[in-house]
Formats: sequence, structure tokens, C-alpha cells
Amino acid sequence: MNHFKYKNGELSCEDVPVSRIAAEVGTPFYLYSSATLNRHFQAFDGAFDDIAHITCFAVKSCSNVAILNGFGKMGGGADIVSGGELFRALHSKIDPKKIIYSGVGKSELEIEEALRAEILMFNVESPQELDRIQNVAERLGVRAPVAFRINPDVDPQTHAYISTGLAKNKFGVPVKEALVEYLRAQDMANIDIIGVSCHIGSQLTKISPFIEALHKVKLFIQQLEQKGIVIKYLDLGGGLGINYNDEEPPLPHEYARAVIDELTSLDITLILEPGRVIVGNAGILVTEIQYTKVNTGGETDKHFVIVDAAMNDLSRPSLYDAFHSIKPVLEKSGTPLLVDIVGPICETGDFMARDRLLEEVKQGELLAIMSSGAYGFSMSSNYNSRPRVAEVLVEGSGFRVIRERENYEDLIRHENI
Ligand code: LLP
Repeated sequence: MNHFKYKNGELSCEDVPVSRIAAEVGTPFYLYSSATLNRHFQAFDGAFDDIAHITCFAVKSCSNVAILNGFGKMGGGADIVSGGELFRALHSKIDPKKIIYSGVGKSELEIEEALRAEILMFNVESPQELDRIQNVAERLGVRAPVAFRINPDVDPQTHAYISTGLAKNKFGVPVKEALVEYLRAQDMANIDIIGVSCHIGSQLTKISPFIEALHKVKLFIQQLEQKGIVIKYLDLGGGLGINYNDEEPPLPHEYARAVIDELTSLDITLILEPGRVIVGNAGILVTEIQYTKVNTGGETDKHFVIVDAAMNDLSRPSLYDAFHSIKPVLEKSGTPLLVDIVGPICETGDFMARDRLLEEVKQGELLAIMSSGAYGFSMSSNYNSRPRVAEVLVEGSGFRVIRERENYEDLIRHENI
């Protein structure tokens, strides 16, 4: 359920017509609904109310500080993967004691910053990283709270680029080697073992891979207990999928029920790292049609709708061949036409949709690229020297710019002749 609906023939976000925002802010822009963000966060977090848990929002999916601050106010923590994300989370007033640090390549400086901030836990992804954390903690004279990220070798049945829990993926430590690492960590003077974590992939549309991974983690926790290692936190990562097209992912409460039923025998606090399921359908990308044209001479005539948003603004279609529903902002009737919706970037891979049925649209009209709240703006770039677009947040009948559109000066700000 989201708050982007047609009202009187016009797409609105909560009580604000999208075209009104476009007239004021210009295009393209990302548009988020705070009612949807709040609803999704609370539906997810509330689904785990029966057990001790912390919902650590995956900052990488949508990292605007206004949005992070909103989740913090609702009791949310943060799952971070870089010093930059730590900075954003702290700036957004997220409680450091609810910050989890994952990622295979943490630098010494990043580890130091996280130790100084007194975050809840590092999810360690290799033996060398454990050594590095021990060394930095020793130098600072502090203790580092750690979990190992276990690679359970489970197939999440999702796009190959975003599956992370297979033995061949770069993430985590294989279950077989993890026990040795925990024993090693136990003897380290500046390490506190407090958890076990795993994250098997993103955009999962079935519950079974999560449960399969959880079984393996539970068995592993038993092994640890036999060695006298007590685990306080079980971090199950993120990954719950959303509906982009015709997927039927489990609802948060169904996912939560299945997970909670598995945990009855354990005395742990569950950590969750959802990203997409909270923000994906809470944001859209609004773009204006620059031109329409027909290229003839091929097997069939090709109809193009050229918009002012491009793969630098939303890379998911180009990168993963991802499907995003595209809707005219002014509701249309009439026969749909088969079109490619493309951006201005000089690459054939620059498309928002290919061979898509779209009601006939005209130059100057607005389109909404739906389900763009997750991995939309956060993966945008300046490719083709295109300033990054604005981000706007609607609250009821009002809206505010939560990130200004970049300008040309921003493009060269850090460059020297
Ligand atoms: N935790 C960890 C350790 C992760 O690596 C990720 C996502 C998450 C949590 C959040 O997963 P989510 O709940 O959003 O599925 N750019 C890709 C998705 C990459 C996901 C990377 N890791 C996309 O646009 O589909």
C-alpha cells in the first residue's frame, strides 16, 4: 500500500498533485511520501513486536538524511557499509547503539571512526578484517563488539548481481571456517563476541531461502554455545522483496511470523536490515518528456519516448534489466503504443523501459517511474556531466526539498586545472 494515487485524473502523492511539485521544483526529481515511509517502517518493525529486535534500516538503499532521521525517530537503527554511511547515520541522529557495520572491505580509518562512535556491532567478513579490528581497537584502548557474517551457501533465487549468500559470492565467512574464527576472536584482548549475522541477497520473493539460512545459523549458534560462546544478537540481514511488476513477495507480517517461529528456542535479540521493502514503493522518479520520435527502416518502426531522466539518475533498468512501472502523471485513456522510454545519455543501454505499452503521450508531459525509492537516488551518478536531481518529501498537503538539485558548479567543485 502506498500513497501515489490518481485523484481527479492526476497522479498525486498524498494530497499533493505531482504536477504542482514539478512546476515548482523542475524535473527530473525523486519524490517520496512520508506517509508511505512511516507506514512501511511501522508495518515491518511492528511485525516483530513479539520478540526483542532492532530494525536497522539499510542506508545504502536510500540515504537522504531527512529520511534516515524519520526512521530514527520511529526507533530505527542503521545498517551501514562505509564511513560515509556512518557519517550520514550519525548526522541523522540515529542512535549509535543501533548501528551495524557490514561490508567486505572496511578500511582502518573506517573501523576507527566506527569504534569512536561506539556502534552496536561490526559484522566481520574475513579473518584479516578481524585482525585489523583487533589492532585498531587495541591502539584506541577500547573493545570492539563483533559478529561474523556467515555465508550459509543458500540460493536466494534472485538476480545474480544481488545474491550474496552463495559460497561463490564474496560475502561472509563459510560456516565451516567460522567456528575457528570465533575461537580465535575469543582469545583476542580487544574483541567482544556478541553476535552472528547473515544476509543472503536482495529482492527475495520467497520465505524459504531465509528460513534455510536461519536453520544453518541456528545450528551454528548451538556449536558456539558448546564452546562456551554466548550470542546476544542474531542479525538476519535484509532482502525482503517488493512488487515491481507481477511479483508476489511475502508480506512483512508473514515473513516475521516464519522467522519468529524459528526463534522460540533462542534467547537473542533479532536484528533486521531491511532497505527495499521499506523505501522501494515509497518513492518515484518524475521526469518530463523532451521528444517523441519514430525510427523507421528496421524490421518494425521503433517508437521512442525521450525523457529528461537517464541511467545516471536511475540505473536499475540498465544495470539489472529491472522492471519499473511507468505512468503518465495525467491519467490517459486510449490505445497504448509499444515504446522504448529512453534518456538523453549517449548509450543504447540508457533506457527506463523497453518495448513497453504506454498510452499515447506528448512532448512536455510528465511521466512517473514507479517503485524508485530504493537504490534510485542512492545509486545515481554525474555521468555525462548531469547534475544530480532534487529529492522532495511530501507530508500530507505540503512538500519540501530534502536535497537541492545540483548545479554545474557542483559538477567541478573538487576539480583543479
Ligand atoms: N544488509 C546488507 C548487508 C546488504 O548488503 C543489503 C543490500 C541489505 C541489508 C538491504 O537489502 P534489501 O532489504 O534492500 O534487499 N542495487 C541493488 C540492490 C543491492 C543490494 C545490496 N545489499 C538493486 O537496485 O536491486
